[in-house]
Amino acid sequence: MEHSIENYIKNLVRDTIGQALGGLQLQKDRQTYVVGNWKMNNNFSGTAEFFQEINSSNNVSVVVCPPTHLLYPAQLLIKQQKKSIALGGQNVHWADRGAYTGETSTSMLQEMGCEYVIIGHSERRQYAGENDEMINMKVKQAIKSGLTPIVCIGETLEEKNLLQTEQVLKTQLFGALKEIDSSQFIIAYEPVWAIGTGQSASPELAQQSHAYIRSVITQIMGQDADTISILYGGSVNEKNAADFYAMEDIDGVLVGGASLKAKPFDEIIAAFAKGEQNL
Ligand code: PGA
Repeated sequence: MEHSIENYIKNLVRDTIGQALGGLQLQKDRQTYVVGNWKMNNNFSGTAEFFQEINSSNNVSVVVCPPTHLLYPAQLLIKQQKKSIALGGQNVHWADRGAYTGETSTSMLQEMGCEYVIIGHSERRQYAGENDEMINMKVKQAIKSGLTPIVCIGETLEEKNLLQTEQVLKTQLFGALKEIDSSQFIIAYEPVWAIGTGQSASPELAQQSHAYIRSVITQIMGQDADTISILYGGSVNEKNAADFYAMEDIDGVLVGGASLKAKPFDEIIAAFAKGEQNL
């Protein structure tokens, strides 16, 4: 906790000086997101309970990504409860339609109220054989359809131990963003070793990777990289969320386990909303 306050004060001082000098940009001027990825969890009654209990925030964009069959009821519940929460799919196909058994298209997601879609989650890279080429086709299809892709990248433990993190991130970014001339996407940095393990990356280590990711996006698309939100994911919870907020290049979080129940997810939203209010 102590270092979160210290970082927060550091950011405030830097921003205040930046403002006083006139020319320097305020930090955190990118859109801030708290995204929940329910994976293959939850059911109708759990979904109703979640949207009844959850509070939305005006300062932070909140996105919930339930399993496909819960998207439509989620859309109705959000409307009924008048919450400002957006919906996202957890995956999408790259074709408009056709003989692709078991797949979901961008227009299907949009019909169920989605504005976002997670693409290239490491779990899909691992068990569904998704590679950078497929991920690139999905990102293109999402952007073409008007969905905002949340593109997941991250190194495995083995790659981390072999000091290959930067190389892996660079390859995944160049692969996913090939021939993309739009800035309508979000990046989620999710070190595979931190997902579902209860062992999040330290905010400092995550910041280091985020700064590197931004430098690679700058190589790919120039100065527009400054406008791209980069989220951290991997064992984010209500206790460590504020520490991630304090980091310069961390523009939000992608939350798995702690997004399944309204209370912890609400506390994560509140941590980010509070940070935004104080800037
Ligand atoms: P976790 O999952 O928060 O449960 O670690 C994050 C994710 O896979 O997006």
